[in-house]
Amino acid sequence: MKLYTTISSLQVAIKTDRAKGLKVGFVPTMGALHEGHLSLVEQAGTSSDIVVVSIFVNPNQFNDSNDLANYPRTMEEDLKLLSTVRCDYVFYPDVEEIYPVPDTRQFSFGILENVMEGKFRPGHFNGVAQVVSRLFEIVDPDLAYFGRKDFQQLAVIKNLVLQLQLRVEIVACDIVREPDGLAMSSRNKLLLPEYREVAPLIYRTLMQAKSLSATSSLENVKEYVLDEISRTNLLTAEYFEIVDDTNLQSIKSWNEPGIKVGCIAVFAGKIRLIDNLIF
Ligand code: PAJ
Repeated sequence: MKLYTTISSLQVAIKTDRAKGLKVGFVPTMGALHEGHLSLVEQAGTSSDIVVVSIFVNPNQFNDSNDLANYPRTMEEDLKLLSTVRCDYVFYPDVEEIYPVPDTRQFSFGILENVMEGKFRPGHFNGVAQVVSRLFEIVDPDLAYFGRKDFQQLAVIKNLVLQLQLRVEIVACDIVREPDGLAMSSRNKLLLPEYREVAPLIYRTLMQAKSLSATSSLENVKEYVLDEISRTNLLTAEYFEIVDDTNLQSIKSWNEPGIKVGCIAVFAGKIRLIDNLIF
């Protein structure tokens, strides 16, 4: 495993590999790595010849300056974790390397960005698109791996690839959970013990809502989820939506065709957690 902090040194290494006909797989991350990230790296190891992982806390995608300031940074542990799987190159640039001049590009994702995370975190997906397009330009991967945990981000990235007509193939990877069901997240590290204890209620409620969906109306299922979450005053739901998995719009009836996904954002104190489940 080699560590690069500059674009030019990383590109020299990748160019040599590509000249040998090797397929480059890329996993972009913001560090504070956990088993969820590692599952993406492992998946890259099985379907790509060279695995590149980037660690970059992208300031442009934080619409809350406290969230950016408090975002966990655990570089040494990250490198240790990455050394347990097959990772060839770690790209760890500073902000000036990625944004030598401010990135003022404005992306538009139409109906994909006006709901859920896009609605409650204005500017977030524009910042994600800025950094991911920049990283794609630097790494020029054959395949790039993203987690279903960030379900809306995945849809936005697929749309970005279409808009920019990039050659990269996006691979969607399943959500990795703690034994008690809580979706793994870098932000879990920030949960105080009492919040960590109640946080698995989020997934339990999604699971119960899914079974309820066989017999109950859409409205009742939505109400059930919001009621369950509000049973503890440690959790506050920001939204719960059941959406179509391609256009991300709230479904109006269970009879609509297509895959339906229950998506939730919950505040556990000041920490915002998201999760989703295919219904
Ligand atoms: P980050 O939150 O570090 O996540 C990096 C990748 O890991 C994303 O594709 C995310 O969906 C995936 N991931 C996180 N938790 C997961 C889990 N429990 N199971 C499976 N996959 C999981 O997402 C970002 O960073 C950034 O927005 C980024 C794309 C790097 C752009 O800055």
